[in-house]
Amino acid sequence: MAPGHRHGSVPPVVLLLLVATVLGSLCLSLTASPEAQKRYNFRFVRHARDAPLVSYYNYIVVGGGTAGCPLAATLSERSRVLLLERGGLPYGNRNVSSEYHFADALADTSPRSPAQRFVSEDGVVNARARVLGGGSCLNAGFYTRASSGYVRAAGWDPRLVNASYRWVERELVFRPDVPRWQCALREGLLQAGVTPDNGYTLEHVQGTKIGGTIFDRAGRRHTAADFLRRAYPRRLTVFLRATVSQILFRRTGTQTGQLRTVPPKERTPEAMRRLDRRAFRGGFILEKILGPMSTGHVALRSADPDANPAVTFNYFRDPRDVERCVRGIETIERVVRSRAFARFTYANVTAMEAAVLGRRAGHLPVNLLPRRATDTRPLQQYCRETVMTIWHYHGGCHVGAVVDQDYRVLGVRGLRVVDSSTFKYSPGTNPQATVMMLGRYMGLKIQKERWTRNDETH
Ligand SMILES: Cc1cc2nc3c(=O)[nH]c(=O)nc-3n(C[C@H](O)[C@H](O)[C@H](O)COP(=O)(O)OP(=O)(O)OC[C@H]3O[C@@H](n4cnc5c(N)ncnc54)[C@H](O)[C@@H]3O)c2cc1C
Ligand SMILES: *[C@@H]1O[C@H](CO)[C@@H](O)[C@H](O)[C@H]1NC(C)=O
Ligand SMILES: *[C@@H]1O[C@H](CO)[C@@H](O)[C@H](O)[C@H]1NC(C)=O
Ligand SMILES: *[C@@H]1O[C@H](CO)[C@@H](O)[C@H](O)[C@H]1NC(C)=O
Repeated sequence: MAPGHRHGSVPPVVLLLLVATVLGSLCLSLTASPEAQKRYNFRFVRHARDAPLVSYYNYIVVGGGTAGCPLAATLSERSRVLLLERGGLPYGNRNVSSEYHFADALADTSPRSPAQRFVSEDGVVNARARVLGGGSCLNAGFYTRASSGYVRAAGWDPRLVNASYRWVERELVFRPDVPRWQCALREGLLQAGVTPDNGYTLEHVQGTKIGGTIFDRAGRRHTAADFLRRAYPRRLTVFLRATVSQILFRRTGTQTGQLRTVPPKERTPEAMRRLDRRAFRGGFILEKILGPMSTGHVALRSADPDANPAVTFNYFRDPRDVERCVRGIETIERVVRSRAFARFTYANVTAMEAAVLGRRAGHLPVNLLPRRATDTRPLQQYCRETVMTIWHYHGGCHVGAVVDQDYRVLGVRGLRVVDSSTFKYSPGTNPQATVMMLGRYMGLKIQKERWTRNDETH
């Protein structure tokens, strides 16, 4: 989870990520139908309490998240795989399944919630996934591939990358509906000069685009847990509510580590402010600053896997980031003033006045950052007061520092890290496509390595 890394070549203009999601108060009840429940009733998924005392596998995947599920499904094609996930099933919970309950899952601070809330050291409200499917069960669904420049820089095989993206997209990527508000936003962007018009595309490109989504046309979320349908059921075992607390190493000998799991501890609910649902009601426009100049840090507080890490974002510590934010907000103002957007604005109030009014009324409780007297211009203040995370975690153990090019932990045999923490920069417009792709990609690579090795010894 890296609040920010220095970016080699910072684009001169702020990348505007405009996720035009209308997450309304419309209460569609989308609990899974009995048929859907049956479809997802994987026989190989069990509760950790039913685990045998000792068992052996070729691969053990810790964390059934956005990368872990496609990785385990792929490895099971030819090997015996154990997948351990500390959370429960994503099915049958409308806070996960329904687009309209996006904010509810994040606001749920109960011990069984699919989201584990935490607040950064500097006051940014955040969440980590705790459910089979991981962050793909909580996220806003926006799906976009990494650019080919990113793929090159990562040293990945571009053909295998494309094949892996396609594997992901066959399962869970949809072309979104573009209702009136989103349509006006899109037209407004074009009228404000954010061109070219790229139409619908999964590519990471400059201009205006409609990206993919993991929500289908009925507003039902499809998650990384769905990849387990592609697994070889007889070679995969999944335990839920299985929190891995230790990996024991033998100094000599083989690649086997030994895992110890503990039953979930009931945590006393943290005294954290409830995230106000109103902040996510109606339409909202997000601006993402790609590769911030400000840097932060992350540290573990303890070896307890359920304890939240200490994260310090340091948003806007570098004044250049404030300027980039201001330029983005100015673009948004042009969009809101555009002809296309006219029907969504009032004649008696400008967009900025409305935003400031809303902020005073407490409609944007997105951070608890201390206010600064040094930001004198209204837009600077606005940036600071409304900055939030968009949860694009990366960099906790990035390639080169913690893992090598093959995602092996440096100096350790038989242990890899394959997830978003290995990214040095956030890929694409949003990361989930590339996180899922990496799970599939590394699954294929590991499989190939293993079988090549075995052929050699025969
Ligand atoms: C609210 C929100 C909105 C977002 N919006 C978008 C978006 O619109 N588009 C986009 O592309 N990305 C979005 N993201 C980011 C994206 O979802 C993440 O980048 C991605 O899910 C990260 O995947 P991961 O596999 O690295 O981690 P995760 O998916 O979080 O997986 C980690 C898994 O490991 C489990 N685990 C952790 N520790 C243990 C342990 N000790 N033992 C057993 N299990 C353990 C966790 O329970 C979890 O299931 C969003 C994220 C959030 C939270
Ligand atoms: C959904 O979230 C709300 C809180 O935001 C919580 O009260 C409710 O119990 C959750 N529903 C389910 C099915 O977990
Ligand atoms: C992979 O896909 C991208 C985007 O669709 C394309 O530009 C690129 O040429 C493809 N690369 C290969 C090796 O097929
Ligand atoms: C602007 O007009 C709307 C609708 O007529 C009204 O609800 C709102 O209070 C007005 N706002 C201001 C700041 O006058």
